Amino acid sequence: MKNRLFLPITIKGKNIRNRAVMPPMVFFERAGDDGFVTDEHVEHYRARAKGGTGLIIVEATCIEKNGRLSDCQLGIWSDEHISGLSRIVQACHEYGSVVMLQLHHSGLRTPSSVTEIPVGPSKNNQKPSRALTIDEIEAIKEDFTKAALRAQEAGFDGIELHGAHGQLLNQFVSPVTNQRTDEYGGDLKGRMKLSLDIIYNIKKELEGKRFIIGYRMGGNEPTLKDGIKIAKLLEEAEVDLLHVSGGISSPDIALPQPPQTFPFHWIVYCGTEIKKNVSIPVIVVEGIRTAKQASLIMDNRLADFVSVGRGHLVDPFWTKKAMNQLEAIPCLECKPDCHWFENGDLCPQQRVKNSQ
Ligand SMILES: Cc1cc2nc3c(=O)[nH]c(=O)nc-3n(C[C@H](O)[C@H](O)[C@H](O)COP(=O)(O)O)c2cc1C
Repeated sequence: MKNRLFLPITIKGKNIRNRAVMPPMVFFERAGDDGFVTDEHVEHYRARAKGGTGLIIVEATCIEKNGRLSDCQLGIWSDEHISGLSRIVQACHEYGSVVMLQLHHSGLRTPSSVTEIPVGPSKNNQKPSRALTIDEIEAIKEDFTKAALRAQEAGFDGIELHGAHGQLLNQFVSPVTNQRTDEYGGDLKGRMKLSLDIIYNIKKELEGKRFIIGYRMGGNEPTLKDGIKIAKLLEEAEVDLLHVSGGISSPDIALPQPPQTFPFHWIVYCGTEIKKNVSIPVIVVEGIRTAKQASLIMDNRLADFVSVGRGHLVDPFWTKKAMNQLEAIPCLECKPDCHWFENGDLCPQQRVKNSQ
């Protein structure tokens, strides 16, 4: 029987050659303050496409200059960004990967090097910040929609809205960070209104186009039960692809606990439980390093795709090696943090890769 990891799948008319996903990962220290794509970005993604990856989701790309997660993040807040981004698309398509772009705004997590007063659903009492006005929320919706149209113009096969990891859309969805009493707060539907409106607007603009709308969500918001409800609302909104990662945890609520026999991270567990509750394709992620682990998830039908993040950073040929039963260069699990959060050149495995 063929390993399900290598079975193709079609979403929105896009034929994805296998189920290995490179999840969005900012390639730090490459973009400048203008957010333009550099040659290094193009070669970074070309290498992973050449390495056989089925679906590449290009790193968090900011829809608004004042919402960047760092001053070296890619941008899509102006038409001028389109041509650089299209170079990434061409490089990925040349080697057969389907390629999506992650659209992002940091909200309350925007650092002081980017903006003095970060904005979000509500003020964060721990630091200078303020709640967005209704007019500003409308402007953010428009920025996301325009960014999606630019991504489509650049040739991307789809976009992924960044609704996980405590970023702006996640801040709205989570009751931990959203204390609004207007239509953008309150119950889950209210807290999801911003995300759902953006999805609706993008779909309306791109009606009839073969373009994948993905959403990266937190599986714990703050419980897995909430994560399942969120996934169902996204399915109702006709999202094409769900990517389940971590959300905003609450100091008062324990993290979801997989059964002792479950051999993966709790975030993977959230993804596999969400998969049982929706019929749209689900990507799982977190700590999946080897082809054996990825195949175990796929062959047991626990998910439709497997994201391999750091595995792809240390070894662009992760997928081809998996297909040929060769060992990929291992991630060394650097502590306290992966060096790629600072600069990939510092990754101890770059020496190995460059010598191959
Ligand atoms: C250097 C680096 C940058 C990242 N940037 C993003 C990002 O832009 N958007 C996002 O949603 N997640 C980002 N992540 C999280 C990854 O997509 C992924 O969820 C995480 O690395 C866990 O998967 P892994 O264990 O396979 O690496 C980043 C992770 C790393 C290591």
